[in-house]
Amino acid sequence: MRDGGRGTGDAGRGKPTAMTRILGIETSCDETSAAVLEGSGDDVVQKSLVILSQDIHRVFGGVVPEIASRAHLTSIVPVVERALSEAGTSLDSLDAIAVTNTPGLVGALLVGVSYGKALAFSRDIPLIGVHHMEGHLFAAALEHRDAVPPFTALLVSGGHTLLLDVESWGRYKLLGATRDDAAGEAFDKVAKLLGLPYPGGRYIEQLAATGNPKRFPFARPMVRRNSQPKDGDYYAFSFSGLKTAVLNAVRDSSSIEDDKADIARGFQDSLIDTLVEKTARAANAFSRQRVVLGGGVACNRTLAAAMRARLEGDGVTVFTPSPRLATDNAAMIARAGFFRFEQGERAGLDLNAYASSPIPGLVAA
Ligand code: KG4
Ligand code: ZN
Repeated sequence: MRDGGRGTGDAGRGKPTAMTRILGIETSCDETSAAVLEGSGDDVVQKSLVILSQDIHRVFGGVVPEIASRAHLTSIVPVVERALSEAGTSLDSLDAIAVTNTPGLVGALLVGVSYGKALAFSRDIPLIGVHHMEGHLFAAALEHRDAVPPFTALLVSGGHTLLLDVESWGRYKLLGATRDDAAGEAFDKVAKLLGLPYPGGRYIEQLAATGNPKRFPFARPMVRRNSQPKDGDYYAFSFSGLKTAVLNAVRDSSSIEDDKADIARGFQDSLIDTLVEKTARAANAFSRQRVVLGGGVACNRTLAAAMRARLEGDGVTVFTPSPRLATDNAAMIARAGFFRFEQGERAGLDLNAYASSPIPGLVAA
């Protein structure tokens, strides 16, 4: 709490007051990130955000878990120090530490969790374990005051594809998820098939912009126009069939150099159409006036434009975080941590890291 330095250090410690200052730490995959946020309720200001991306994985065409853990170890201390100094604050002035503890690579998560625990213990301040996907859900709210519940959320990252109805912060209806590859994973795999660098989402988007949309009209996965809400696949996603269709197109091509922009275009159109259709179904079914996107694939401007074109005519506002906040970062973790902190949640020093776990606050769909 800003006036008196850090929290009060007894059982009542951590009760929200006018101004709370939280350090967020994110190490779930290949970004070492730290951020400081200040505020209360939905009035939270980002004071700093440091993101160190581990470029080494590009050499291997994917994240190598052991290398990721080691890289987090070497960078976590300077990244946190930098976030504190950019925010003009110090460890002694923090009220709590929020750290991603699930889902992600366990060895990578453990670096952030262990460091967060050590900091919280040494300063006798609360520790909050944050679910990485709940972090993505809060990212847009850092920049857009109106990106608050109720809304329909589409979280599309390298590891997840989740369609949620968000009635209020902490109450999430899981409507649909991918049955195989995540949307970002599909982008990355198709990029690899087309000989593009890793991670390939933005390269596919660039290439697709120059492609002919008519040459490779891939089927839209799980999009039957006569589908009903009671059908099991009404909100579900599946991208592995689309990836196989791309693989076949690549194999059949007599000149991949000539065809690759058109294939990228056909792939992206199919994937985006599917994401837009399912999100529109959810916004419509729950009469939501706001749609919030999150996760690395939300950097895709073509996706955001298609979502707006489809929904804005119905009076629905679409919020996307800027690329720095859409991809993995500690500001979104601190923001979700803020909410959990104000709910009175505290993690013990036995907080563990988990490769996967459901987003907290799920209510029956
Ligand atoms: O959320 P994120 O940073 O990490 C995970 O939690 O997975 O998402 C990374 C994913 C990668 O698959 C990457 O290819 C994708 O986001 N991505 C994009 C774009 N920029 C990043 N996908 C499509 N279009 C983009 N412009
Ligand atoms: Zn992520």
